[in-house]
Amino acid sequence: MKFIDVHSHILPGIDDGSENWEQSIEMLRQAEQDGIAQLVCTPHVHSAKDFLHEKEWFSLLEEFKERAANARIAVDLQLGCEIYIQPDLQLHRPISTLAQNGRYFLVEFPMNMIPDFVADRFFKIIISGKTPVIAHPERNGQVIQRLQIAYDFVARGALLQMNAGSLLGMFGDTVQQTAELLLEADLIHLVASDAHDDQNRTQVLSKAYQKIVDRYGLERGTRLFSITPQKIVRGEPVSLQTPVSLEQVRLQNKKSPLNLRKWLNRMVQTK
Ligand SMILES: [Fe+2]
Repeated sequence: MKFIDVHSHILPGIDDGSENWEQSIEMLRQAEQDGIAQLVCTPHVHSAKDFLHEKEWFSLLEEFKERAANARIAVDLQLGCEIYIQPDLQLHRPISTLAQNGRYFLVEFPMNMIPDFVADRFFKIIISGKTPVIAHPERNGQVIQRLQIAYDFVARGALLQMNAGSLLGMFGDTVQQTAELLLEADLIHLVASDAHDDQNRTQVLSKAYQKIVDRYGLERGTRLFSITPQKIVRGEPVSLQTPVSLEQVRLQNKKSPLNLRKWLNRMVQTK
Protein backbone atom coordinates (compact mmCIF):
# COMPACT_ATOMS: atom_id res chain seq x y z
CA MET A 1 0.00 0.00 0.00
CA LYS A 2 1.23 3.48 -0.86
CA PHE A 3 0.60 6.57 1.25
CA ILE A 4 -0.95 9.75 -0.10
CA ASP A 5 -0.03 12.94 1.70
CA VAL A 6 -2.35 15.92 1.21
CA HIS A 7 -0.60 18.41 3.53
CA SER A 8 3.01 19.47 3.00
CA HIS A 9 4.99 22.71 2.99
CA ILE A 10 7.53 21.23 0.61
CA LEU A 11 7.58 23.92 -2.10
CA PRO A 12 10.65 26.08 -1.44
CA GLY A 13 10.82 29.71 -0.38
CA ILE A 14 7.09 30.38 -0.03
CA ASP A 15 6.23 30.03 3.64
CA ASP A 16 7.79 28.62 6.83
CA GLY A 17 8.35 25.28 5.08
CA SER A 18 11.23 24.25 2.83
CA GLU A 19 13.87 26.94 2.42
CA ASN A 20 15.41 25.93 -0.90
CA TRP A 21 15.39 23.34 -3.68
CA GLU A 22 18.02 21.22 -1.94
CA GLN A 23 15.77 20.84 1.08
CA SER A 24 12.67 20.21 -1.05
CA ILE A 25 14.43 17.42 -2.94
CA GLU A 26 15.68 15.91 0.32
CA MET A 27 12.13 16.00 1.71
CA LEU A 28 10.81 14.38 -1.45
CA ARG A 29 13.45 11.66 -1.19
CA GLN A 30 12.30 11.03 2.40
CA ALA A 31 8.71 10.84 1.16
CA GLU A 32 9.58 8.23 -1.46
CA GLN A 33 11.60 6.15 1.01
CA ASP A 34 8.73 6.34 3.48
CA GLY A 35 6.26 4.92 0.96
CA ILE A 36 4.52 8.11 -0.12
CA ALA A 37 3.44 7.81 -3.75
CA GLN A 38 1.52 11.04 -4.11
CA LEU A 39 1.88 14.37 -2.42
CA VAL A 40 -0.08 17.63 -2.55
CA CYS A 41 2.07 20.73 -1.94
CA THR A 42 0.06 23.02 0.32
CA PRO A 43 1.70 26.39 1.01
CA HIS A 44 0.05 28.62 3.61
CA VAL A 45 -2.50 31.13 2.34
CA HIS A 46 -2.89 33.66 5.13
CA SER A 47 -4.97 36.23 3.28
CA ALA A 48 -6.60 36.70 -0.10
CA LYS A 49 -3.56 38.57 -1.41
CA ASP A 50 -1.51 35.36 -1.25
CA PHE A 51 -3.58 34.10 -4.17
CA LEU A 52 -1.79 36.70 -6.31
CA HIS A 53 1.20 34.33 -6.23
CA GLU A 54 -0.80 31.44 -7.60
CA LYS A 55 0.82 31.52 -11.06
CA GLU A 56 4.30 31.53 -9.52
CA TRP A 57 3.38 28.55 -7.39
CA PHE A 58 2.22 26.57 -10.42
CA SER A 59 5.57 27.36 -12.07
CA LEU A 60 7.38 26.17 -8.95
CA LEU A 61 5.38 22.95 -9.07
CA GLU A 62 6.45 22.35 -12.68
CA GLU A 63 10.08 23.04 -11.78
CA PHE A 64 9.78 20.67 -8.81
CA LYS A 65 8.46 17.89 -11.07
CA GLU A 66 11.41 18.40 -13.41
CA ARG A 67 13.94 18.39 -10.58
CA ALA A 68 12.30 15.29 -9.08
CA ALA A 69 12.53 13.48 -12.42
CA ASN A 70 16.20 14.45 -12.74
CA ALA A 71 16.84 13.11 -9.23
CA ARG A 72 14.93 9.93 -10.21
CA ILE A 73 12.37 10.34 -7.45
CA ALA A 74 9.00 8.85 -8.32
CA VAL A 75 6.46 10.77 -6.25
CA ASP A 76 3.44 12.23 -8.00
CA LEU A 77 3.21 15.96 -7.20
CA GLN A 78 0.18 18.22 -7.12
CA LEU A 79 -0.73 21.65 -5.82
CA GLY A 80 -3.24 22.99 -3.33
CA CYS A 81 -2.91 25.24 -0.31
CA GLU A 82 -3.66 25.45 3.40
CA ILE A 83 -6.09 28.32 3.83
CA TYR A 84 -6.11 30.18 7.12
CA ILE A 85 -9.74 30.65 8.13
CA GLN A 86 -11.06 34.14 7.38
CA PRO A 87 -14.43 35.70 6.59
CA ASP A 88 -13.31 36.28 2.99
CA LEU A 89 -12.66 32.63 2.24
CA GLN A 90 -11.91 32.41 -1.49
CA LEU A 91 -12.74 28.93 -2.65
CA HIS A 92 -13.08 29.57 -6.38
CA ARG A 93 -9.32 29.91 -7.05
CA PRO A 94 -7.56 27.02 -8.79
CA ILE A 95 -5.32 26.31 -5.80
CA SER A 96 -8.12 26.71 -3.22
CA THR A 97 -9.10 23.08 -3.56
CA LEU A 98 -6.60 20.25 -3.26
CA ALA A 99 -5.21 19.18 -6.64
CA GLN A 100 -7.78 21.53 -8.25
CA ASN A 101 -10.55 19.02 -7.65
CA GLY A 102 -13.12 21.77 -7.00
CA ARG A 103 -14.42 20.00 -3.91
CA TYR A 104 -12.06 19.56 -0.93
CA PHE A 105 -10.16 22.44 0.64
CA LEU A 106 -7.61 22.29 3.47
CA VAL A 107 -8.38 24.85 6.16
CA GLU A 108 -6.48 25.91 9.26
CA PHE A 109 -7.86 27.54 12.42
CA PRO A 110 -5.97 29.79 14.85
CA MET A 111 -4.09 27.65 17.40
CA ASN A 112 -6.22 28.58 20.39
CA MET A 113 -9.71 29.25 19.13
CA ILE A 114 -12.25 28.78 16.38
CA PRO A 115 -13.93 32.01 15.21
CA ASP A 116 -17.69 32.25 15.77
CA PHE A 117 -18.54 32.64 12.10
CA VAL A 118 -17.01 29.27 11.16
CA ALA A 119 -19.89 26.92 11.98
CA ASP A 120 -22.42 28.89 9.95
CA ARG A 121 -19.98 29.51 7.10
CA PHE A 122 -19.03 25.84 6.85
CA PHE A 123 -22.67 24.83 6.86
CA LYS A 124 -23.31 27.04 3.81
CA ILE A 125 -20.15 25.85 2.07
CA ILE A 126 -21.03 22.18 2.60
CA ILE A 127 -24.56 22.77 1.28
CA SER A 128 -22.99 24.34 -1.82
CA GLY A 129 -21.01 21.13 -2.47
CA LYS A 130 -17.54 21.87 -1.11
CA THR A 131 -16.02 20.05 1.85
CA PRO A 132 -13.69 21.54 4.46
CA VAL A 133 -10.77 19.33 5.44
CA ILE A 134 -9.82 20.72 8.86
CA ALA A 135 -6.06 20.63 9.37
CA HIS A 136 -4.74 19.16 12.64
CA PRO A 137 -7.80 19.70 14.93
CA GLU A 138 -5.89 17.86 17.69
CA ARG A 139 -3.61 20.90 17.98
CA ASN A 140 -6.43 23.43 18.43
CA GLY A 141 -6.85 24.75 21.99
CA GLN A 142 -10.62 24.86 21.79
CA VAL A 143 -10.89 21.28 20.49
CA ILE A 144 -8.48 20.14 23.22
CA GLN A 145 -10.74 21.70 25.84
CA ARG A 146 -13.95 20.42 24.34
CA LEU A 147 -13.77 17.45 22.03
CA GLN A 148 -17.46 17.77 21.22
CA ILE A 149 -16.52 20.59 18.83
CA ALA A 150 -14.70 18.10 16.62
CA TYR A 151 -17.69 15.77 16.78
CA ASP A 152 -20.03 18.60 15.73
CA PHE A 153 -17.89 19.52 12.72
CA VAL A 154 -17.87 15.91 11.57
CA ALA A 155 -21.62 15.57 12.13
CA ARG A 156 -22.11 18.57 9.79
CA GLY A 157 -19.97 17.03 7.06
CA ALA A 158 -16.44 18.36 7.54
CA LEU A 159 -13.43 16.03 7.41
CA LEU A 160 -10.66 16.01 10.02
CA GLN A 161 -6.98 15.65 9.09
CA MET A 162 -4.60 14.62 11.85
CA ASN A 163 -0.85 15.27 11.73
CA ALA A 164 1.31 12.15 11.88
CA GLY A 165 3.61 13.91 14.37
CA SER A 166 0.76 14.60 16.82
CA LEU A 167 0.33 10.90 17.44
CA LEU A 168 4.06 10.51 18.07
CA GLY A 169 4.20 13.21 20.74
CA MET A 170 5.88 15.82 18.56
CA PHE A 171 3.58 18.56 19.86
CA GLY A 172 3.46 17.42 23.49
CA ASP A 173 1.37 15.07 25.62
CA THR A 174 -1.90 16.98 25.48
CA VAL A 175 -1.94 17.07 21.70
CA GLN A 176 -1.00 13.38 21.59
CA GLN A 177 -3.81 12.49 24.00
CA THR A 178 -6.28 14.53 21.98
CA ALA A 179 -5.13 12.75 18.80
CA GLU A 180 -5.64 9.38 20.52
CA LEU A 181 -9.12 10.30 21.73
CA LEU A 182 -10.16 11.54 18.30
CA LEU A 183 -8.97 8.22 16.86
CA GLU A 184 -10.83 6.27 19.55
CA ALA A 185 -14.01 8.05 18.51
CA ASP A 186 -13.24 7.43 14.81
CA LEU A 187 -13.40 11.17 14.19
CA ILE A 188 -10.19 11.32 12.14
CA HIS A 189 -10.65 10.81 8.40
CA LEU A 190 -7.06 11.03 7.21
CA VAL A 191 -3.50 11.50 8.40
CA ALA A 192 -0.98 13.78 6.69
CA SER A 193 2.60 14.87 7.36
CA ASP A 194 2.26 18.69 7.49
CA ALA A 195 5.99 18.48 6.70
CA HIS A 196 8.02 21.67 6.98
CA ASP A 197 11.63 20.47 6.63
CA ASP A 198 13.90 17.42 6.38
CA GLN A 199 15.05 17.39 10.03
CA ASN A 200 12.21 17.96 12.49
CA ARG A 201 8.82 18.15 10.84
CA THR A 202 9.69 15.63 8.17
CA GLN A 203 7.93 13.98 5.28
CA VAL A 204 7.32 10.76 7.23
CA LEU A 205 4.00 8.95 7.69
CA SER A 206 5.06 5.34 8.29
CA LYS A 207 5.60 5.58 12.07
CA ALA A 208 2.12 6.95 12.75
CA TYR A 209 0.71 4.43 10.24
CA GLN A 210 2.30 1.55 12.12
CA LYS A 211 0.97 2.82 15.42
CA ILE A 212 -2.56 3.05 14.04
CA VAL A 213 -2.37 -0.38 12.38
CA ASP A 214 -1.08 -1.95 15.63
CA ARG A 215 -3.91 -0.41 17.59
CA TYR A 216 -6.85 -0.32 15.18
CA GLY A 217 -5.92 -2.79 12.44
CA LEU A 218 -5.00 -2.70 8.80
CA GLU A 219 -8.39 -1.53 7.54
CA ARG A 220 -8.20 1.70 9.55
CA GLY A 221 -4.58 2.30 8.55
CA THR A 222 -5.37 1.86 4.85
CA ARG A 223 -8.41 4.10 5.11
CA LEU A 224 -6.61 6.95 6.89
CA PHE A 225 -3.34 6.93 4.91
CA SER A 226 -4.42 5.84 1.46
CA ILE A 227 -8.09 5.35 0.59
CA THR A 228 -9.54 8.59 1.97
CA PRO A 229 -6.65 10.86 0.89
CA GLN A 230 -6.89 9.29 -2.58
CA LYS A 231 -10.59 10.12 -2.78
CA ILE A 232 -9.90 13.65 -1.59
CA VAL A 233 -7.23 14.22 -4.23
CA ARG A 234 -9.55 12.89 -6.93
CA GLY A 235 -12.52 14.90 -5.64
CA GLU A 236 -14.57 11.74 -5.08
CA PRO A 237 -17.11 11.32 -2.26
CA VAL A 238 -15.74 9.94 0.99
CA SER A 239 -17.85 7.33 2.73
CA LEU A 240 -18.02 8.34 6.36
CA GLN A 241 -17.92 6.11 9.42
CA THR A 242 -20.37 6.90 12.19
CA PRO A 243 -18.30 8.44 14.98
CA VAL A 244 -18.40 6.78 18.38
CA SER A 245 -20.12 8.87 21.06
CA LEU A 246 -17.72 10.69 23.32
CA GLU A 247 -19.31 9.15 26.40
CA GLN A 248 -18.50 5.70 25.02
CA VAL A 249 -14.89 6.75 24.38
CA ARG A 250 -14.68 7.89 27.97
CA LEU A 251 -15.96 4.53 29.25
CA GLN A 252 -13.62 2.60 26.96
CA ASN A 253 -10.71 4.58 28.34
CA LYS A 254 -11.44 3.78 31.98
CA LYS A 255 -8.21 1.85 32.19
CA SER A 256 -6.18 4.70 30.76
CA PRO A 257 -3.54 6.50 32.85
CA LEU A 258 -4.85 8.73 35.60
CA ASN A 259 -4.09 12.06 33.97
CA LEU A 260 -5.87 11.05 30.79
CA ARG A 261 -8.86 9.78 32.74
CA LYS A 262 -9.09 13.02 34.68
CA TRP A 263 -8.85 14.98 31.51
CA LEU A 264 -11.52 12.85 29.83
CA ASN A 265 -13.90 13.37 32.73
CA ARG A 266 -13.41 17.10 32.48
CA MET A 267 -14.01 16.99 28.76
CA VAL A 268 -17.33 15.18 29.10
CA GLN A 269 -18.45 17.44 31.95
CA THR A 270 -17.81 20.57 29.93
CA LYS A 271 -19.86 19.38 26.95
FE1 LIG B 1 0.40 23.11 7.53
